[in-house]
Amino acid sequence: MQIGVYSGSFDPITKGHIDIIERAAKLSEKLIVTVLNNINKNYMFTLEEREVMVRECVKNIPNVEVVTFQGLLVDFMKDKGITLIYRGIRAVSDYEYELAMAFANDEISGGKVETIFIPAKKKYMYLSSTIVREIAMNGGNLSLYLPKNIEKKVEKKVKSKL
Ligand code: COA
Repeated sequence: MQIGVYSGSFDPITKGHIDIIERAAKLSEKLIVTVLNNINKNYMFTLEEREVMVRECVKNIPNVEVVTFQGLLVDFMKDKGITLIYRGIRAVSDYEYELAMAFANDEISGGKVETIFIPAKKKYMYLSSTIVREIAMNGGNLSLYLPKNIEKKVEKKVKSKL
């Protein structure tokens, strides 16, 4: 079975991520969305909260599974016999970071994994979770960027932090 993974921090998951998940899910028989920690980031939501949010957003896509784990993505993939990574790519500014990650994953997996880039939709080209958090902290309208259920959770989280 052709299985792919799509990983991210999802702090929070946005409509831009969901667009990539929907498109990646069409390209593989099964897509595993892995909710992970990037050691260089401080998160607004805990790993468990992010996982729950992602799960809620993909519950209607039958071939998508959501998991979380600690450790290297390539080790998880090796364990499961998966060789395909999908990454969304937005503006040119993503390119260096994404290439570095693709090369690193290729090297540390001993050439066993392949990364496929899916271009973000034009309307989500400059969207990021940081921008969403920034708008949220300043009381702005999030409906363009987040599904309703996530919008509510972000608003609640912001209130709890004020
Ligand atoms: N729509 C909206 N935003 C998008 C997007 C899209 N289509 N595609 C990317 N982004 C944004 C995210 O919102 C995020 O924004 P932020 O920086 O403001 O939070 C940013 O792009 C990067 O997101 P993401 O893809 O989640 O990367 P990350 O750097 O947060 O996480 C991991 C990267 C967790 C996937 C990576 O560190 C990892 O695999 N870790 C596990 C350990 C490992 O194997 N490390 C070796 C990797 S070489």
